[in-house]
Amino acid sequence: MKNIDAYTHLRGESIYLDDIPLIQGTLYGAAFGSPVAHGVITSLDTSEATAHPGVVRIFTYKDIPGENQIGGIVPDEPLLADHEVHFCGMPVAFVVAESIDAARAAVKKIKVAIEPLRVITDPREAQALGELIIPPRTFQLGNTDQAWQQCAHIFEGRADTNGQEHLYIETQGAYAVPQEHNALKVYSSTQGPTAVQRAVSRVTGLPMHLVEVEVNRLGGGFGGKEDQANTWAALCALAAHHLKRPVKYSLHRMEDMAMTGKRHPYSADFKIGLNAELKIMAYEVTFYQNAGAAADLSPAVMERTLFHCTNSYFVPHVKATAYSCRTNLPPNTAFRGFGGPQGMFMIESAIAQAAEAIGVDAAVIQERNLLQTGDEFPYGQKAQSEAPECWNKATGLYNLTTLRKQVDAFNTTNKWHKKGLACMPVCFGISFTKTLMNQARSLVHVYTDGSVGITTGAVEMGQGVNTKILQVAANTFSIHPDRIKIHSTNTFKIANTSPSAASATADLNGKATLLACTAIADRLRKMAAEELSVAINAITLQDEFVWVNGMKTDRDWKSLVMAGHTKRIGLSEHAHYATPDIHFDATREKGHPFAYHVYGTGIIGVTVDCLRGTYTVDSVKVVHDFGSSMNTAVDIGQIEGGIVQGIGWMTMEEVVYDKEGRLRSNALSTYKVPDIYSVPKEIAIDFLQTPHDNLAIFRSKAVGEPPLMYGIGAYFALRNAIRAFNKKGHFPFDAPMTPEKVLMALYATPQEGTIPPHEETSKHLAVDK
Ligand code: MTE
Ligand code: HPA
Ligand code: MOS
Repeated sequence: MKNIDAYTHLRGESIYLDDIPLIQGTLYGAAFGSPVAHGVITSLDTSEATAHPGVVRIFTYKDIPGENQIGGIVPDEPLLADHEVHFCGMPVAFVVAESIDAARAAVKKIKVAIEPLRVITDPREAQALGELIIPPRTFQLGNTDQAWQQCAHIFEGRADTNGQEHLYIETQGAYAVPQEHNALKVYSSTQGPTAVQRAVSRVTGLPMHLVEVEVNRLGGGFGGKEDQANTWAALCALAAHHLKRPVKYSLHRMEDMAMTGKRHPYSADFKIGLNAELKIMAYEVTFYQNAGAAADLSPAVMERTLFHCTNSYFVPHVKATAYSCRTNLPPNTAFRGFGGPQGMFMIESAIAQAAEAIGVDAAVIQERNLLQTGDEFPYGQKAQSEAPECWNKATGLYNLTTLRKQVDAFNTTNKWHKKGLACMPVCFGISFTKTLMNQARSLVHVYTDGSVGITTGAVEMGQGVNTKILQVAANTFSIHPDRIKIHSTNTFKIANTSPSAASATADLNGKATLLACTAIADRLRKMAAEELSVAINAITLQDEFVWVNGMKTDRDWKSLVMAGHTKRIGLSEHAHYATPDIHFDATREKGHPFAYHVYGTGIIGVTVDCLRGTYTVDSVKVVHDFGSSMNTAVDIGQIEGGIVQGIGWMTMEEVVYDKEGRLRSNALSTYKVPDIYSVPKEIAIDFLQTPHDNLAIFRSKAVGEPPLMYGIGAYFALRNAIRAFNKKGHFPFDAPMTPEKVLMALYATPQEGTIPPHEETSKHLAVDK
């Protein structure tokens, strides 16, 4: 089954926010963002801007009829700055004008005086000052204090990961159109239509039933539009509500990059202990999450970091603490993996440090510690583990031993180029970590011509969820996919939706669709059974026909539907799905938060140019746990995209803020993302089809986020290649491994006063000189 959007995408006919025809009288907005990261506003002068030709009105916090608040988890985020600013780019005023150019020109004429306050950009500094978004949390298993005695090797270290710009191709934006009775219709490029509806309702003071949010599709979200589409929608809605004219705002790329939050940078201290057999006995880690100036989704992201702090390994004694630290950066937010990748990077760093010091390949430690079925995660859930299967299949299928020999041979014969190899097992929990969010609804209409229209809470953002939902309906009715249309996501049709996120969209909305279609199909089957005087169980719908006891009748889908309507049988259904069996008790930090886990193993190979510090990713070979994929084309697309995005985060994408909290990497000339030249030369994907039952839709496991984490292997492959050139030099675990950092590491000297990596380090990589 092809992605149903392929046809219009290729022809350029797919409708995004900017393709919606504008209503006559539409005005254009542009936000004025704070020029400084922290301070007290002493004066705001909009007179010159207001006088600019075409300007209709300039809105500030004083114009907000409802609440000046858009914080979802913690109410700490004003829509428009009132007396203080907390980050560069924080919206202070919203200019509305007759043209885009007039709005932007007027923004430049706004004058603000700000008494500067201390700017904090480092999460450790924030933590030391007590600047926390929420109190710290600790996940614990066993007793690490006692476990250190059982360890033959103990290592302590520090690891850092940087942020990541979402770089959805479609920037943030919204279009608010006033309706009768004061109501508003808001077109928004959002992953969370209900989140936008709530924010608009809160800011305007309108009840939610007067706020219709409509989303056709996104040109990418990647988490960046789970919460942060709210700002622009609320600003447009505020202006439209006052002016009774439609207001549109699509951000320029540079505005988007500067004003919105990104993946959270993390810093962590770790301590890992292994016994003589290289079993990890104990792991302690403290995470410092750089939350930015407001909570946004940071508490939930921090929680997922804790959930994934042991990645795909069983560790009997764990103590993991996380601090969500308030800094003067734009509020950081959801990004594919949602804190999980950061948690995984830290334990992979701890394992790499141990491996280098002991003088074994990290893969030896990884393999010995893979989760087995029945093992307990630090949060109490028991694993139904596919980790050994994925690992064994990957190392066998791709022949890790041979790959290693090839790398060794290459490194022995090449002086100025070195290859490196790393394995990256992944284990990712599927479900929103907040249990209540794991629910969805679907509205299915069967029309009298046999065509079917479906609306769910799912937002299509390129991940192919609409294709999967369509497959669910086509399968359940056993009709041709061409009969089915998935409609836009709309808060008046489906209420109280969770955002399309957590990789759970197809599971949640697909299951709701399955329930709705099944209910309609059952009514039609019952009617057919009565007509034919047989038991309902004898009736099946198959290939557009009614079948009795496995025999095709001449009653086809279209006539069945028409007969149903004639008999006044309901041809519509609104169904609700809530993931069963999940729960989590945050007071004990224990429970069963995930419907299931997705596993996989990646093997990543790189080549480093040891004169220049440049590198190529030669191959990424994965065995991925699909459960039983319902759409291999879509799923492979997700894996390829995730891998490349993960490699980008780990190797080249470098978010740079200066000490004043200004984004320096604010354009594509200063922020490097993977392009066609830097993608791996080879990506091999093999399916681990598992027989176990699971809670995924049609047993087809969620695939949106987990593959990103294979990209972490690129960091460690680079590290291994560098080690083949420079055995003893000290260089930190500090992602991304940009060419500059690679070059520094290639020529780094051993750190004074510390023990250099073991003489035996990377025996199999023996080289140099
Ligand atoms: N794929 C595309 N093409 N565009 C996106 O924005 N977002 C990712 C992933 N894959 C994204 C994507 C993220 S962050 C998530 S959570 C999932 O898709 C969301 O969709 P799903 O729940 O249907 O997997
Ligand atoms: N994952 C992704 N997005 C979310 C989550 C989660 O666990 N919780 C809230 N938003
Ligand atoms: Mo994805 S980070 O859950 O939108």
